[in-house]
Amino acid sequence: MRVSNAIILCIALIAGLPQLALAATPAPKATSPAPVGFGMVKHYNNADHVDPGTAIDKKTSPFFPSRATTGPKGKVTSDMFEQPEVCGGCHVDMYKQWKGSMHSNSWSDPIYRAALNMASKGTDGAVDNLCIGCHTPIGLVTGEATPKGDKMSKVADQGVQCEVCHNISDSNGVGNGAYILTPKLHGRKLKFGPFKDAQSPYHDTAYSELHTKSAFCGQCHNVSHPFNNLPVERTYDEWKDSWYAGQNITCQDCHMTPGPGVTKNPGKATPFSKDREQIYTHFFVGGNVLVPTLLGSKMHADLAEEMLRAAATIEIMPKKSLDTKGIQSVSVKVTNVGAGHKLPTGFPEGREMWIDLKITDANGKEVYRLGKIDHGHTEKGTKSFKVVLGDKDNNIVHLELWNADRVLYDTRIPAKGYSVVDYQFMVPEGTKGPLKITADLNYWSFPQNVLEELMGKDAPIVPITEMATTSVMVPMGASGLPVASNE
Ligand code: HEC
Ligand code: HEC
Ligand code: HEC
Ligand code: HEC
Ligand code: HEC
Repeated sequence: MRVSNAIILCIALIAGLPQLALAATPAPKATSPAPVGFGMVKHYNNADHVDPGTAIDKKTSPFFPSRATTGPKGKVTSDMFEQPEVCGGCHVDMYKQWKGSMHSNSWSDPIYRAALNMASKGTDGAVDNLCIGCHTPIGLVTGEATPKGDKMSKVADQGVQCEVCHNISDSNGVGNGAYILTPKLHGRKLKFGPFKDAQSPYHDTAYSELHTKSAFCGQCHNVSHPFNNLPVERTYDEWKDSWYAGQNITCQDCHMTPGPGVTKNPGKATPFSKDREQIYTHFFVGGNVLVPTLLGSKMHADLAEEMLRAAATIEIMPKKSLDTKGIQSVSVKVTNVGAGHKLPTGFPEGREMWIDLKITDANGKEVYRLGKIDHGHTEKGTKSFKVVLGDKDNNIVHLELWNADRVLYDTRIPAKGYSVVDYQFMVPEGTKGPLKITADLNYWSFPQNVLEELMGKDAPIVPITEMATTSVMVPMGASGLPVASNE
């Protein structure tokens, strides 16, 4: 009992309400008559379990504003970690799958580095640790990583590598890099993983339930503005709010399997170890086709396209006919059938999915189109699925994310959700039917003009992936028959 009756009695007496003193023993029940007045009651601190999402201060987060911490006590140095190539000597498949993934590129990614430099300059270095904490955890805890990246050891240069994930012993929560990185706990090589009975000739092993949960990924796949808490990237929260979380379908179940829809993957952790019912793959592909192509892994780029094509369906809502009289309308429905979070998710100023709607006449001539690329961005009015952040004056924030303090709008589609968008247009007199309506659903990880703003003339060409497409033929005229031609 933390709140003693004596305290309640005291408060009641101080409040000068003797009739309450009687009601205070025993404690009032819900059915007892409402007291005449109320007092303040001392309660124990029950705030601890509320995850703040951001670092609070340097005392609890030594790498502030990153939430990362290390264990055991003492400075962590890069000689406590090994190169992924060493692990790959035995864990052949995991290494081949990881190499070329966005985790292996998370520090070398030239787009990230350009953004880091921009953010570092824009904030006088105030966010350096935050960015570095997720993009190269070893670089953060050893203090080797700077935006320039010129004093990095090889182990830190490899971004989110084996030794990052498998030395995470515990977690400080979800978001802003809340992992506890613990190389050589008990003074020896120790790898944390999903097996309860793993024996290795090279390192100790420990079962870690954390590694089997989405919260493991959530340590880095939830990003909040460190100083105003604005939700910047919320992939974990989006998943947590979805049907998938309810069914216990984790990030690992979709991103650590051989491909979309493949759930079972029996195998071995090394060519010489025992058969396991389930081996989780290490491709970690999402929607990024651009950077894996740029850094030389066609395999990862191809897998990302496969992932994107499994994410959504598109349909044109039934339409009897189109007419030259009055405003015509067409509705298109897009459903998020495959992503366990919003579609698209992740890096906000970038990720964009949109519909390119085209209507052509009997001769293939364009009657109407909305959704083409114009000067490096989707044309004005395009039906696109995107989150747009703003600053204190409601201006759209493109790259200077540190100035963002609000979400201006968010048209992304939640997991298992759908969105119906309407088009309104005129069909010119004399148009010859039947008309063909085509709706393409496209994705790019950056609008070309945003990337050019960030990287100048070094900006690569951003590929556009067609995620889904559909088309229908529609006759001209209200009767459903082609109207008499004017020719
Ligand atoms: C982003 C974090 C991450 C990185 C990077 C990573 N792993 Fe894993 N690894 C995991 C998780 C999570 C699991 C367990 C998944 C589960 O059981 O749900 C796992 C499982 C494993 C397993 C157990 C067998 C299996 O695949 O299920 C081995 C062995 C392994 N990883 C080795 C490696 C090696 C070697 C590398 C580097 C080439 C590596 N990992 C990189 C997160 C990571
Ligand atoms: C000499 C071979 C060898 C090397 C090198 C090696 N491992 Fe292992 N590792 C094994 C074997 C064998 C197992 C047990 C597999 C099993 O039981 O299915 C294992 C298991 C694991 C597990 C699963 C642990 C668990 O309890 O779930 C992880 C994670 C892991 N290794 C990570 C790594 C990492 C990271 C490296 C590089 C620093 C590495 N290994 C280097 C042989 C090796
Ligand atoms: C230590 C931080 C960290 C952890 C833990 C982590 N990730 Fe990542 N992940 C990153 C970073 C950073 C990137 C982006 C790198 C870039 O774009 O430059 C990334 C990229 C990805 C991508 C590629 C996205 C794309 O656009 O194609 C996928 C998929 C992914 N992670 C899934 C996972 C899953 C699943 C887990 C849990 C098993 C996980 N990650 C755990 C930091 C992490
Ligand atoms: C039901 C399967 C499923 C689950 C569960 C799932 N994802 Fe995804 N994820 C996808 C698909 C499909 C895509 C590709 C479409 C897209 O880009 O959103 C994707 C894309 C991504 C991307 C790249 C987004 C982009 O456009 O840059 C990241 C990062 C990612 N997932 C991380 C996660 C994390 C972290 C979790 C768990 C919290 C998770 N995913 C859970 C299926 C899933
Ligand atoms: C909590 C972890 C975390 C923090 C902190 C973080 N990032 Fe990231 N970053 C990620 C993840 C995860 C992705 C991949 C999401 C996706 O694929 O959409 C990513 C993707 C990116 C991308 C897109 C790269 C590409 O090739 O498409 C850029 C640019 C980027 N981050 C820059 C930054 C900068 C600059 C900072 C600091 C202001 C920062 N990040 C802080 C986790 C983090």
